[in-house]
Amino acid sequence: MTTNNKILVIGNGGREHALAWKIAKSPKVDHVYVAPGNGGTAQTDKISNISLTDIAELIKFAKDHHISFTVVGPEAPLAAGIVDEFRKHGLKIWGPTKFCAQLESSKAFAKEFMLKHNIPTANYVVFDSGHEALEYLKSQSLPIVIKADGLAAGKGVLVATNISEAINFINDIFSNNKFGSAGSKVVIEEFLDGTEASFIVMIDNNGNILPMASSQDHKRLLNQDMGPNTGGMGAYSPAPIVSDAIHQQVIKEIIQPVIDGMRNVGHSYSGFLYAGLMIGKNNKAKTLEFNCRFGDPETQPIMSRLESDLCQLIEAGIDGDLDQVQVKWSGQFAIGVVLASEGYPDAPRKNDIISGLDKIKNITDVKVFHAGTKLEGNTLYTDGGRILCVVGLDKDFRQAQKKAYDAIKQITFNGMQYRTDIGSRLIL
Ligand code: AMP
Ligand code: GLY
Repeated sequence: MTTNNKILVIGNGGREHALAWKIAKSPKVDHVYVAPGNGGTAQTDKISNISLTDIAELIKFAKDHHISFTVVGPEAPLAAGIVDEFRKHGLKIWGPTKFCAQLESSKAFAKEFMLKHNIPTANYVVFDSGHEALEYLKSQSLPIVIKADGLAAGKGVLVATNISEAINFINDIFSNNKFGSAGSKVVIEEFLDGTEASFIVMIDNNGNILPMASSQDHKRLLNQDMGPNTGGMGAYSPAPIVSDAIHQQVIKEIIQPVIDGMRNVGHSYSGFLYAGLMIGKNNKAKTLEFNCRFGDPETQPIMSRLESDLCQLIEAGIDGDLDQVQVKWSGQFAIGVVLASEGYPDAPRKNDIISGLDKIKNITDVKVFHAGTKLEGNTLYTDGGRILCVVGLDKDFRQAQKKAYDAIKQITFNGMQYRTDIGSRLIL
C-alpha cells in the first residue's frame, strides 16, 4: 500500500466511529470518509462524513474518489449484498458476501448451518406460523428463548421466563407484525445457562483466521441484566472468561467449521465474524448467534486496545494475507459504557443538546466514541438510541471502570440513561 490512501467506512454507529478513528491513525492513510457517519466522525482528524447510503451511489463515490478499500460496519448493507456489488465493480471491500451474511440475516439459516456442521448451539425448532409456534410452546418448559428470524438490531430476541410474555412476543411477531418481514419465521430454542462472551475474528478468502481480543457485552438495558435486550449497553475487553482452552475450542468447533461449511457450498467467508458465545459450567462454549461484522459496543473497547495498524490488518484481510500479519494488543483493560437516550430501545427521544465533552477530551486513558449524535454548527445533539460510548483504560480493571464512570459525570443530555455496573461481572 502506498501513502495518500483514502478509505471509506460504511455506517453511523459507535462501531464505525471507533473503526474510522483507528484506521485514520495509520500513517498510510490520508483520509477516511464515513457514510453517513455521526457527530463524532464529523469532528475527528482526517475523517469526514458523506451523506450517502445507497449502494450504487457509494460505488460511484468510491470510484470517483479513488478509494483504496471500503470497510462495512453494520449488518444491513452486508445482508443487502454491498460486498457482491462492490466486487462486481472491481472495488476492494472488507466484509462477507450476501450469501455468507445469511449467518446473521437469518437465524433459521444460521441454526440449520450449525446443525449441519456440528457447531455447538442450543436445540431449536423453526416456525413460520404463530398458531404452530403457540401450540409448541404449550409443551415446553421455561425459560425458553424466542427469536425473530431476521435483522432486528439486537431487539428481536426474548428470553421468556413466563408463558404470557412468550405468547405476547409470538403474537407481536406474527399478528402485530412488530419486526416486519424479519418476523416471517421464528426460532424457538432451548435456554442455555452460563456466561456470555463475544468472540470476534478476521477471516480471509484463503481461510486464514486472525482472532481479535476477547470481550464481553452487556445486552440488557438495566443493571444486573434486567430489562429488555438492546444492541448492547457496554462492553469490556479482554474477557478473562475466554481462557486459552475455550479459545482453542471456539476456533476448532465454531470458527473453522464456518469456513469449511461455506467452502463446501462454493462460498468463501471473508470479513469479520463474531460468534456470540454462552460458556457453560463445564467450560465449553456454545454458539448463541453469529454476526457477520464487528460488535457494537465491543468495537469501542477492542479498538482502544489495538496497537497494530488496523489499515494494514484489513488490507491483509482483503488480499488473503492474514497469515502474514500479527496483531498486538495493549495489556490494559478497556471498559466502555454506553450512554443511551430516554426511551431506548423502543422509542428513543432525539434532539437534546449534549454538553460536557470538552471537559474530558484531554483526559489520558479516556476515549469517547459517538453513535447517535449529530453536529449542527458547533452544537452536538442526540440523534438516536445509543448516543455515546465512554471507554476507560487501565491495567487494573477497577481503575479502568472508575475512569469511564468519572468521565461520564461530566457529560449531560436530557433523558440520559446508562448502566452503572458495566465491568462488574469481570471475573479474574
Ligand atoms: P442473539 O441475538 O441470538 O445473540 O440473542 C440476544 C441475547 O439473548 C443473547 O446475547 C443472550 O443474552 C440471549 N440469548 C439468546 N439465545 C439464548 C439462549 N439459547 N439461551 C439463553 N440466552 C440466550
Ligand atoms: N453487541 C452486540 C452486537 O453487536 O450485536
